[in-house]
Amino acid sequence: MKIAVRYYTRSGNTKKLAEAIAQAVCEDAKDVSVALEEKADILFLGCSYYAFDVDQAVKDFIVQNKDNIGKIVCFGTSAMMKSMKKPVTKVAKMLNVAVADEDFHCRGQFGKIHKGRPNEDDLMKAAEFAKRYL
Ligand SMILES: Cc1cc2nc3c(=O)[nH]c(=O)nc-3n(C[C@H](O)[C@H](O)[C@H](O)COP(=O)(O)O)c2cc1C
Repeated sequence: MKIAVRYYTRSGNTKKLAEAIAQAVCEDAKDVSVALEEKADILFLGCSYYAFDVDQAVKDFIVQNKDNIGKIVCFGTSAMMKSMKKPVTKVAKMLNVAVADEDFHCRGQFGKIHKGRPNEDDLMKAAEFAKRYL
């Protein structure tokens, strides 16, 4: 089974989760600017909320790579909101791309709020979550 890890980040929070997940599944974490070169049965897709939505780059990545995505497993960080599934599923559904029921989400530092998150505990939990897919 082929697993791939892609993420979008602005301040590095989601990249930390992506790297923990990638290490757990023995893959490289790559930015969404890097297309999927082959079909990924499981795509760990990381992103965050900015003004209640995901960045357009995440939506474009799903559209442009839809034929190489088996199933998306969402992960992400945010200051208040809880899961990236809703905005990701909105795009994926239109393209008939499957999104897993389970996702991983934790707080991400936003200015002085949630300082240090994701922290070591968050990264450990993200890695444990990812290992279920091996
Ligand atoms: C411009 C901006 C808008 C944001 N809007 C939201 C939001 O609507 N809801 C939320 O929960 N967090 C919001 N956040 C917080 C980020 O989602 C949070 O800091 C996240 O961890 C950033 O991840 P990144 O470092 O991977 O970009 C916002 C942050 C920024 C900079």
